Amino acid sequence: MLGDACPEELLDAGERLSVDELRSRQLSLLQATVATTYEKVPHYRKALDEVGFAPGDLKELSDLSRLPFTGKKDLRDNYPFGMFAVPQSEVSRVHASSGTTGRPTVVGYTKQDIDTWANLMARSIRAAGGRAGDTCHVAYGYGLFTGGLGAHYGAERLGCTVVPISGGMTERQVDLIRDFGARIIMVTPSYFLAIIDEMERRGLDPRDTSLRIGIFGAEPWTEQMRTEVEQRTGMHAVDIYGLSEVMGPGVAQECVETKDGLHIWEDHFYPEIIDPVTGEVLPDGSEGELVFTTLTKQAFPVLRYRTRDLTRLLPGTARPGMRRMEKITGRTDDMMIVRGVNVFPTQIEEQILGVEGLTPHYLCVLTRPGRMDELTVQVEAAPDLTDRPTAAAALSRRIKDRVGVTAKIEIVDPHALERSLGKAKRIKDNR
Ligand code: DLL
Repeated sequence: MLGDACPEELLDAGERLSVDELRSRQLSLLQATVATTYEKVPHYRKALDEVGFAPGDLKELSDLSRLPFTGKKDLRDNYPFGMFAVPQSEVSRVHASSGTTGRPTVVGYTKQDIDTWANLMARSIRAAGGRAGDTCHVAYGYGLFTGGLGAHYGAERLGCTVVPISGGMTERQVDLIRDFGARIIMVTPSYFLAIIDEMERRGLDPRDTSLRIGIFGAEPWTEQMRTEVEQRTGMHAVDIYGLSEVMGPGVAQECVETKDGLHIWEDHFYPEIIDPVTGEVLPDGSEGELVFTTLTKQAFPVLRYRTRDLTRLLPGTARPGMRRMEKITGRTDDMMIVRGVNVFPTQIEEQILGVEGLTPHYLCVLTRPGRMDELTVQVEAAPDLTDRPTAAAALSRRIKDRVGVTAKIEIVDPHALERSLGKAKRIKDNR
């Protein structure tokens, strides 16, 4: 099920650029970014000096590959504001990612950065099928996480009526969707499942609500999950990607008329795909780790930031000038190695959704009873599942045949697994 394309006259100037126009713009923006970071951020000056690269050496886009990468550790080492390129008087907002270990990473925005972000989020919501006048229910968390405020400013910029409910209070989410008539919901896909489960628990058919578009991101989700959500709700489910270190949500967005991966807003972010082990730049079409260099950011520009997200770059379709990225397979840090086979939770999700009577509420549990790692998949039964052993056997066989690993399957009662209000936790490591 595909949606209607955005009318040409609603596209902004950046979205209309041809590939050639875009490349020449990227080059001049990149030269300016390298010069500014060298001048203003001691970390970058030192890193560039170490490899003997002067800002004037950047003559063409491919010269970027000679610059060092930036990683999460660099941000932590410069905690809290050491990577900012403007004085604090020009920083109008900060966000931070909690970080499961150690210091959080802190990012900053000037007034103009906030304005750019609002424009790119407005562009993203429009590409998803949203229009001025729509009511937009924002259930991404508000606060230091970039999801809530990022979505909020973009929806306002587009001319929507925003319902800033944030995450949590699931019953209230359902009440307000019903009472306020939102057409768009912006939320993590896993929390949206909790919202539709709550609708069904109360005897409401999710197909009968006013919702028509779900803009889902902040965590990986699969094509199979798209089908599941679209069938249960009659909505369009589209993907949005971003990360705090690069801006927040709105770095890339899937267009509702094609649903074929996410167009990267390349007039603001320059993508590369690298081999995660060697760091070598790979040609478009190859799978690898996504790396971004920001082209227009003032307070917190980043050069070659390693996202740890795995995907591939593809040519543009609905926005022909901009390349697409395929749906994210997973993060390098979420890769489970089970008896030598690399496995991502998304591969398990794909198989779960292929078995009748199982739901997309699942958890991968890793243990090491002896010398070898073992994977147990805990998955919730649908309320009407009667024959659990058959479903478990079917899932185990699919995982063995299609993913290539042996997994123990535990089918648990509906609602037995913990629900997250934001990003779902898919791996529990008991090793
Ligand atoms: O999650 C920003 C965001 C908010 C994006 C709302 C989309 C919607 P962080 O908390 O810094 O920022 O986490 C960034 O989340 O590197 C990916 O691993 C993951 N991620 C974000 N969007 C997607 C997506 C926000 N559409 C990290 N698919 C990223 C898969 C995603 N993973």
